[in-house]
Amino acid sequence: MQHPTFYITTPIYYPNAKLHMGHAYTTTLCDIIARYHRIKGDRTYFLSGADENTEKVVREAVQRGIDPIEYLDSVVAEFESLYERLHISHDQFIRTSDQVAHWPGAQAMWEQLVKSGDIYKQTYRGLYCVGAESFVTEKDLRPGGLCPDHDEAPHVVEEENYFFRLSKYTDVIRAKIESDELQIIPASRKAEILALLREGLTDVSFSRPAEKVTLGVPVPNDPSQKMYVWCDALTNYITALGYGRSDSALLQQFWPANLHVVGKDILRFHAAIWPAMLLSAGLPLPRAILVHGMITSGGRKMSKSLGNVIDPVELIDEYGAEAVRYYLAREVSPFEDGDITHETFKEVYNANLANGLGNLAARIMTMAEKYLEEPVSIKKFPFPNGYEEAFAQYNIQRAADIAWEDIGKLDAYIQETQPFKIVKIDREGARAIIAELVQRLSIIAHMLEPFLPESAGKIQTAIAENKKPENLFARKE
Ligand code: MSP
Repeated sequence: MQHPTFYITTPIYYPNAKLHMGHAYTTTLCDIIARYHRIKGDRTYFLSGADENTEKVVREAVQRGIDPIEYLDSVVAEFESLYERLHISHDQFIRTSDQVAHWPGAQAMWEQLVKSGDIYKQTYRGLYCVGAESFVTEKDLRPGGLCPDHDEAPHVVEEENYFFRLSKYTDVIRAKIESDELQIIPASRKAEILALLREGLTDVSFSRPAEKVTLGVPVPNDPSQKMYVWCDALTNYITALGYGRSDSALLQQFWPANLHVVGKDILRFHAAIWPAMLLSAGLPLPRAILVHGMITSGGRKMSKSLGNVIDPVELIDEYGAEAVRYYLAREVSPFEDGDITHETFKEVYNANLANGLGNLAARIMTMAEKYLEEPVSIKKFPFPNGYEEAFAQYNIQRAADIAWEDIGKLDAYIQETQPFKIVKIDREGARAIIAELVQRLSIIAHMLEPFLPESAGKIQTAIAENKKPENLFARKE
C-alpha cells in the first residue's frame, strides 16, 4: 500500500525585517507537524518562503540606501540561516521574486481567473495601508486615522485596477467551511470567518498600476498593471509545486494541501480570497487551515518602538535551538495567543529541560552505564495513548504535554523504586528496574523526535551505546 501524502505550508514572510519569535512560532509549529508525519511514514512535503513583491521591502531598502533586490537577498539569506539554526526541515523555500519558479504560475492563475470571467477593470478610490498591504475602510481606522494593526496612516489611492469577483464565491465557500470540507481550526476561528461570510464578501482590487509599484508580477497582456501582492503571494502554495510550469509532478502528488498554517491576522486572505481563487481556477481546495494566535512579550505586541521584540537568534545563541523549539511547542497553545519573556524562557528552560528531561536522561543512563553490562534491547511500541490523537487535531502542545507527563511519571518511578539503593542488596532486581527505565526513556525520546530532533537523537544514541548522553541541557543561572 502506498503511504498517504501530507503537504503542509507556512505563510511566506515579508522580508522587510528579520524574523522574530512570532514568525519562528509559525515555522516551528509547521516543522513539528511535518516531522511527525514523516515519522509516521507519510510522503511529506513542507513548504516555506518569502513574500517579496511588496512595497514594504522597497520602503525599507530606500531608507537604508540599498538597492531593493540586494536588500531582499540579504534578508532572505538571514531567513534561511535562521531556519538552519532552528532545525527547520522544509523541502523547499520559495521566493516570489523568482521569475522562473513563481511568475509563470502566478500568471497562469491570473489567466484562469480571466477565463472564468472573474476579472474586471474599474477605477477605484480607497485607503491603502502599506503595512497591511491591503485596502482598509474608514470605519476600521483607529482614532487619529491609523490602521488598526499597523501604526501608520493609510494613504488615499485613486487608480484604475483590475478587480477579482470575490463576491461571487461567498456562498460556495461558506457551505464548504460549514461542512468542514474546508476545515478551519480551531472552532472559534471557523465561527469568525463564517460570520464574515454571512455579511457577504465584496470584490477585491487585484492589481496596481505598474508605475506605482516597484516590485510585482506583471499582469498578463497588460504591461500597465502589476498583480496585487496577495494575489501573487497566495499562489505560491501551488507555483512551488510546478503550477504553470511543464513539470507538475509535485502538484499532482501533493495538491490539495493538507494544511496551511497561518496567524489569525491573515485568516481572511486564506479562508476567503484563496479558496475563491482556487474555485475560479477549477482547482481543489486545501483540506484544512490551522489558525494560531499572536505571540506577545510581557502581554504586549512585540514592536520595535516598545523595545520588546524577541530575536530567536539571540535565544538560540544562549540556550540552543532545541530550547526555543521546546518553548514554542509546549508553552504556547496553537489555538490561542501566547507570551514570551526572557524571564519565563529561562524559568521553563531550567524546570523542564535542564532539571526535567536532561536530568532524567542523565540519571537513568548513568545507572545503566554503571550497572548494565550491555545496552538494553529496545522494544518498539506504538506512541502512548492520546499522542497521535493530539497530532491528528494539530494540538502539538497536548502531544508535548503527554511526553512531559511521562517524564514526570518516570521521575516518580525512580523515587519509588530507588534502584541506586536496591542495587546494593539485590543487584538483579535493580538491573531489571534500570532496564525498564531505559525502555521507558526510549519511548519518551521517540515522542520527542518531532519536537527536539537533536536531543531525541542524543538520547537514542546514549541508549544504543549504554552510556550517559552528552550534556543535554545545562542549567542557566
Ligand atoms: N506575507 C504575508 C503572508 C502571505 S502568505 C501567502 C504575511 N507575512 S508576515 O511576515 O507579516 O507574517 C507571516 C506570519 O507570521 C503570519 O502568519 C503572521 O500571523 C505571523 N506572525 C507575525 N507576527 C506574529 C506574532 N507576533 N505572533 C505570532 N505570529 C505572528 O502576513
